[in-house]
Amino acid sequence: MHTIQEVAPGILSVGADDRRLALFENLFPLENGVTYNAFLILDEKTALVDTVDASVARQFLENLDAALAGRALDYLVVNHMEPDHCAGIADVAARWPAAKIVGNKKTFAMIRQFFPEDLSSRFHEVKEGDTLPLGKRTLQFVTAPMVHWPEAMLALETKEGILFSADAFGTFGAGNGNLFSDEMDYEALYLDEARRYYTNIVGKYGQQVLATLAKLGDTVPSLICPLHGPVLRGKAIPFLLDKYKHWAAYRPEKKGVLIAYASIYGHTESAVRAFAAMLAKKGVTDMRVFDVSKTHCSHLIAEAFKYSHLALAAPTYNMHLYNAMDTFLRDMAHLNLQNRKAAIIGNGTWAPMAHKAIASMLGEMKNMEVVGEPLVLLSSMKASQAGEMEALADALAASLACE
Ligand code: FEO
Repeated sequence: MHTIQEVAPGILSVGADDRRLALFENLFPLENGVTYNAFLILDEKTALVDTVDASVARQFLENLDAALAGRALDYLVVNHMEPDHCAGIADVAARWPAAKIVGNKKTFAMIRQFFPEDLSSRFHEVKEGDTLPLGKRTLQFVTAPMVHWPEAMLALETKEGILFSADAFGTFGAGNGNLFSDEMDYEALYLDEARRYYTNIVGKYGQQVLATLAKLGDTVPSLICPLHGPVLRGKAIPFLLDKYKHWAAYRPEKKGVLIAYASIYGHTESAVRAFAAMLAKKGVTDMRVFDVSKTHCSHLIAEAFKYSHLALAAPTYNMHLYNAMDTFLRDMAHLNLQNRKAAIIGNGTWAPMAHKAIASMLGEMKNMEVVGEPLVLLSSMKASQAGEMEALADALAASLACE
């Protein structure tokens, strides 16, 4: 059964949901699935904006057939060549042999890399600012290099200001029937997953995201059609644009503390509980505590982008740092996280090194400030160290107060 929804007169959503996939990119857990959006414009010419992942190809092709209702496809616009969106190119090209494939130079190099079929005679190349007239509607292209692939581009429908935004403004999470963000509690349903999606997948490329947002200038689209998640309409648009400005500039969204700890036998965990309670007693609010061995790193990254302060606690392992904390810190560095303030607690039984390793890894990131003196535990927290912990909690509370 086809599942087509109307985005605007003559613009249809023809994508599909995948609730079976366990790991997006074979990496990120999907608790609530994911959508792969594709959009069909029916005008004097017909244009499909992107395709979908191979896992939902059958549903997508059924949708597309029904939406075209016997019309030929004139253009396949390829805004992004990652296979979760480009997997259907060869099938669509074969089914509608007269369709031109619209992309930029880098798009076409990737089509040649991914597909054995020679589609080059059908390429219709566009550059920054070029337009594609379809009849009443026209698409204008905005290149978005390294958001988060080099060929990425956005297409702005100029009549109503509808932005086909590729991966930008997308989110994990399958659909729930309603297509538009203003038909649901978008913030409750999707904000955490939009943050996890952005920070883990695009997070490294903040500068490029800001450059692309700058190209849009003061244009506030009437609708944003991302390749994952709901179509954005109404207050979700300025809301998410503001979030993107924070995330892309590595500015915290919220004054608060992400307390992330690793603990092998529970001694570091016990110290962290005492530290969190001490912070609470000092009036610190908005804290989230996570065991880095239990919580997938992608969630930790999203929280680290959200909060202004970090408290990182871990035992020594192999004369360095416990693996899960090491992974979290490396991921923070890979994703360019910066401008955070962090308190450190390290543990070790005979040669404590964890506090030094955390400080050193933070030191390799941009503008990461270590707050107070790291608290060093020898196997477990002792009552005699309460003063040291108190001083660290004071330093963190004071730093929060200055935020
Ligand atoms: Fe959803 Fe970059 O692919």
